[in-house]
Amino acid sequence: MENEFFQTAAPLLKNPTVQALSLYNHHRGKTRLEHVQDVAWTSFLIGKRFSKKIVMDSRAIIRGALLHDLFFYDWLREGPRFHGLRHHNIALKNARKIISLSKIEEDIIKKHMWPLTVIPPLYPESFLVAMVDTYCSTKDYIVYRKPESFNEKYNLSFTKYMKKTDIQDI
Ligand SMILES: [Fe+2]
Ligand SMILES: [Fe+2]
Repeated sequence: MENEFFQTAAPLLKNPTVQALSLYNHHRGKTRLEHVQDVAWTSFLIGKRFSKKIVMDSRAIIRGALLHDLFFYDWLREGPRFHGLRHHNIALKNARKIISLSKIEEDIIKKHMWPLTVIPPLYPESFLVAMVDTYCSTKDYIVYRKPESFNEKYNLSFTKYMKKTDIQDI
């Protein structure tokens, strides 16, 4: 399971634009890179869990989730007015600069703030990522402990994976 995830995630996680997300705080002590990893991994696992009932595109889930918050400003202090209603378009524009996105990946990024943004997701994958994003964001604010357990485990697995595999570029 981890291998499948990292095979798709690694080329993006190696990308300098995506790496730059580690420079921005996102939610209470968690960087934006940690947040998108959290959303991508959790969405991937839930997608797999329900794969017997709904067939979903795991690659699109991982890539869309990793890119869903690809913007570069401290949203609490700077950036556009009505950040919540606009940053999905900024992320989409930035994501298009680094990879060519499938229709599902585009929809995942564009609709991840639904239902705040009115137009609903077109695909189950985008619905899933929107729900997981809300869940992960809420969890970051209500769980009063540092998020290192996920991130330490995640980074350890990723480092292990990077050592044993030749990673293809995007
Ligand atoms: Fe977002
Ligand atoms: Fe997010």
